[in-house]
Amino acid sequence: MENKPVHIAVFLSGGGSNLQALIDGYKAGILSGKITFVVSNKRKAFGLKRAEKEQIETAVFKVKDYESDTAAGVDLLEKLEERNIDYIALAGYLQLLPELVVKAYRNRIVNIHPALLPKFGGKGMYGLHVHKAVLEAGETESGATVHLVDEFYDNGKILEQMNVNVMKDDTAETLAARVLEKEHKLYPRALEKLIKGKYELKNG
Ligand code: GRF
Repeated sequence: MENKPVHIAVFLSGGGSNLQALIDGYKAGILSGKITFVVSNKRKAFGLKRAEKEQIETAVFKVKDYESDTAAGVDLLEKLEERNIDYIALAGYLQLLPELVVKAYRNRIVNIHPALLPKFGGKGMYGLHVHKAVLEAGETESGATVHLVDEFYDNGKILEQMNVNVMKDDTAETLAARVLEKEHKLYPRALEKLIKGKYELKNG
């Protein structure tokens, strides 16, 4: 893969500030892979607008438009392979990827989560729900986690984490904002390390 450009697809459901951090990371030379495809399950996701502004190809893809997870996977895989996508980065994507895609891209799909996994992850743990749960549990620390993606929510190998202190007067919103700042630093760097083979990974 020495001279071949690395192509990254980003999947999102919302605002896409992490997509922006990856785009900016590429422009700054922190990330060597280029984001060439942005996919959302929400037609109105602001992240799609960010992609269009950067002249990155976009697509709307919804598993529920297909008769099965397999049928969705076949179609999505074809789209990804046609575009020579090497890595997938989930950035606020509130769906599971079809199993076929997870298998085909094993160890090449990452996600960013706004807490210190394995705590405060899993189905339903997204957005402010995560930060509310952290505050309710009386944690003194939270943070951001980049992990590999497998067939379950927030479950794959943890690659990188950054800690954030929880302040006494934090609300879910203030904590979310401080964690998000760390996410933007962490994500391009962790993805670059993965691309450069810096993590020890199991096969298959
Ligand atoms: C981030 O907090 C990320 O950790 C989580 O979803 C949020 C997405 O934010 N998976 P944005 O759309 O990237 O701004």
